[in-house]
Amino acid sequence: MPVTTRDWVLAAPASLDAFGIDRRSAMASGLAAFSLALLGCEVSAAKPQRRMAARDWIERQGELARALKGGQISPLQWMADAERLAGEIEVAELMAEVDKAQVTQNAMPPTNDPRKSSIRFLDAEGAPRKLGYGAALFAFEPHNVITPHGHRHMVSSHLVVEGAFRVRNFDRLRDEGEAMIIRPTRDYIARTGALSAMSGPSDNIHWFVPEGGKAMTFDVIISGLDQGEADYEIEAIDPLGGIARPDGTILAPKMSFEAASVKYSAEI
Ligand SMILES: [Fe+2]
Repeated sequence: MPVTTRDWVLAAPASLDAFGIDRRSAMASGLAAFSLALLGCEVSAAKPQRRMAARDWIERQGELARALKGGQISPLQWMADAERLAGEIEVAELMAEVDKAQVTQNAMPPTNDPRKSSIRFLDAEGAPRKLGYGAALFAFEPHNVITPHGHRHMVSSHLVVEGAFRVRNFDRLRDEGEAMIIRPTRDYIARTGALSAMSGPSDNIHWFVPEGGKAMTFDVIISGLDQGEADYEIEAIDPLGGIARPDGTILAPKMSFEAASVKYSAEI
């Protein structure tokens, strides 16, 4: 069966039923946020008291990165902690700290990707701080897209610092030859202040399309997680060109980023 862009939005609630979980018990068992996300509802940024100073927040990200690399926390715990941390900072305060950092704008990519700028935070003496993670800004023009892709040996989090995105995630269940077996997990609008994170076991595939104009993310990238392996590995896939399976998974062929950039425009 061919996959359509709405398959996971429309099929997901049905699959809850198929597993014997009705909406009422899903709500009661704490699956509410999950099923709402599957329904494509908007998830607005949590608005707790955001009281952490930007410098401390940047340091705290480093503590989490080191704990993950050292095996003190799991990738799933890191995702939960990164999510919580995102609720502790005012975006404007973080961006004021970014303004004081060394910002290196990368060359324009040959694909339709957003332009990346690498961030090096500096200490009081003006030397780069050793934080244990990479920080970057991705500045999207309205037509730029980060096409669906999977990762290995790394995790990342993406804080929306300007505008909004349609974010689609999939779990990467396994690879089969030149394809990945994936399961849709989320399809939602992330507005300024919201965080999207991915790891090996959860939401490993992500896809970002700006919603309603220019938009930007602040990314924390932790690579080199698997000793003896490459620092990281990123592969584009084609979920829309995949095969939908009766169990709700999709066999999605791998594809080049160049081909993905042509197919996955901002209109999809
Ligand atoms: Fe990515």
